[in-house]
Amino acid sequence: MTAAVLAWYRDMGVDEAVGDAPTDWFAVSARPPEPAPRRPARPDPAPRPTRPPTPLPETRPPAATASPDEAVMDARERARGAATLETLRETLASFDGCPLKATAKNLCMARGSADASIMFIGEAPGRDEDLQGQPFVGRAGRLLDKMLTAIALDEATAYITNVVYWRPPGNRTPTPQEVQACAPFLDRQIELVDPEILVFLGGAAAKQMLNTTEGIMRLRGKWRTLQAGTKERRAMATLHPAYLLRNPSAKRLAWRDFRAIRSALDGA
Ligand code: URA
Repeated sequence: MTAAVLAWYRDMGVDEAVGDAPTDWFAVSARPPEPAPRRPARPDPAPRPTRPPTPLPETRPPAATASPDEAVMDARERARGAATLETLRETLASFDGCPLKATAKNLCMARGSADASIMFIGEAPGRDEDLQGQPFVGRAGRLLDKMLTAIALDEATAYITNVVYWRPPGNRTPTPQEVQACAPFLDRQIELVDPEILVFLGGAAAKQMLNTTEGIMRLRGKWRTLQAGTKERRAMATLHPAYLLRNPSAKRLAWRDFRAIRSALDGA
């Protein structure tokens, strides 16, 4: 395979080989780490100030030995007990109820302002997010940042997170079990940040938050009132920036949604 083909696969998010035979990732993650292969350094086109990623312990307990229901109950109890976002991050880092933790490199909870009046909720960390321990820092994140800038938002005025906090292997969609295990941590972030407006980026977040199976094209662009945390909030679903990278002609729909979001923030 030529370097160009490999680069194309990497840009599409395919950064691991998936074999014909199933792999027991729990057994793999329990093995001592192998030395990392050397990769040629690539310049980062958009360096940003980052908080250091929260590394996961080298030797991890076997993740998700509890039943899915037990994991959700455990998550609820832990999340409820966190009085600040910092404590919530620490609590999440020590939570083993989401199976994704076993294969991820870093916890990836949120970036942005704890005082934001708007919260953007995406699907799951990808490769770049897993490496940096922050959501939306890869290609899709750079597009999201541009979209935020276009409506005068940034990390000082918006809060950005996902419905799950560890990267799904191969960037697959998180399973309902993984999303449910993480849901109490999202609910608690909403309570602690207390935004007026919630924006769901893409179908996975929209379906989870709106408790529906309807597709994103039908869900997007409509204001809803949602009971989230302790109060009702305005909520809108829009297209995921990764979808917009693949389908640039859909950007006009996202732009319409973002203009509506700006108007709502301005109280119009
Ligand atoms: N896509 C998401 O949904 N979230 C991220 O953090 C990155 C890409």
